[in-house]
Amino acid sequence: MTPPVNELVDADRGYINPLVFTDQGVYEQELEQVFGRSWLFLAHGSQVPKRGDFIQTYMGEDPVLVVRQKDGSVKAFLNQCRHRGMRICRSDQGTSRTFTCSYHGWAYDLEGNLVNVPQEERAYRNEIDKSKWGALKVPRIAEYKGFYFGTWSADVPEFEDYLGDMAYYFDAVFGRWDNGVELVEGTSKWVIDCNWKFASEQFASDMYHAEVSHASALIALHEDPAFWAGTSHQTLMPGRQFGGNGHGSGSFWADSIGFSESMYNSPALSEWVTANADEALRNVSEQQLLKVAGHNTIFPNFSWLAGPATMRVWHPRGPGQIEVWAWTYVPKDAPDEVKAAYRRMTQRTFSPAGSFETDDGENWTEIQQVLRGWKARNNTFNAQMGLGHDERDVHGLPGRTSDALSESAARGFYQRWSDLMAGLSWSDIAELDAARQAKEALHQEV
Ligand code: FES
Repeated sequence: MTPPVNELVDADRGYINPLVFTDQGVYEQELEQVFGRSWLFLAHGSQVPKRGDFIQTYMGEDPVLVVRQKDGSVKAFLNQCRHRGMRICRSDQGTSRTFTCSYHGWAYDLEGNLVNVPQEERAYRNEIDKSKWGALKVPRIAEYKGFYFGTWSADVPEFEDYLGDMAYYFDAVFGRWDNGVELVEGTSKWVIDCNWKFASEQFASDMYHAEVSHASALIALHEDPAFWAGTSHQTLMPGRQFGGNGHGSGSFWADSIGFSESMYNSPALSEWVTANADEALRNVSEQQLLKVAGHNTIFPNFSWLAGPATMRVWHPRGPGQIEVWAWTYVPKDAPDEVKAAYRRMTQRTFSPAGSFETDDGENWTEIQQVLRGWKARNNTFNAQMGLGHDERDVHGLPGRTSDALSESAARGFYQRWSDLMAGLSWSDIAELDAARQAKEALHQEV
């Protein structure tokens, strides 16, 4: 029997019940309580540059259309026809003036309003009120530095408040160039047989696995064996991990501008990054440039890795499967040669054919298979690394941080998950967060 959802995670003690990764009932609740009430990544503006441009994506398992409007704004609506529920649009992306359902032909405009019903006079005697049968609109959309997020929730805090201190870590990567970033065309999509939280949590918090899981890939990738000797070796590098509002970010600290890029054997890329350091330093601090460039997740399922320039959404597909949608992001103003280098770097490292990506996927699918066992599913997981050793506002980094080798952000991720799953309102969660922070401060004083 599944325990109550609020007993599945004990973030204070670092306990995780594996049923959070396997149970169908828990999953159904997640769709409503987590994906139905959080801000979810919809699109980057470069995917829908002109009016009428659209892409199809998902909010949890709900298909949505994201559309550039005539006035330049971006809106989104459920990709479900109100007649019998067919997808209104079956293309992944394109440009259109209207969307016509391929089942019986109801047609919707760019905002999702129902504008035409075939045979309206004969079939409906002109009695259908089209204004009442538009597509379900995503009520709140936020744009942040060219990225669009949407939520079904009326009471989730404004997006920047939802981000909180995570904005510092987001800006460090995506706010660094005068004209921002754009996505390389083409979405890599693939399926992994694992729960979505394995992927999200790892990108929020787990630097610990890298040296073990990626040991061979790290050696194989770098053509100069000496690269991994001396101070560049990760275990010798200092670093921090941030966790807050369920989000997470972590990195080993670079010792020079362009360090992350230098790992991937592209002199053109390294030279360009170094040559354009002044522009970056006009937009972000040296601290952000050198110390905040690693793994990241915005709760619940939007992640990026700053070194390999990959960003992705972990779309849930049941408790035991995800569909990964991944992109390469590049500085918009970079020359083609540099953009191509970023693209190659992503393909070699974090893509369906990337050497690191396959390491990660193998771990997650293996765990999911182990969890088919009854005993295995009822055997508490340990998430105690660094427990009790968090600090606030140290090393010039905002928010709660810990050593890079910690599970602090993972505990925060599961805490936020647990709060939402318990059905707490966003105002209750804000009160609880404040109380937790006060308790934390007291603990540090003692
Ligand atoms: Fe769309 Fe019938 S289901 S028109």
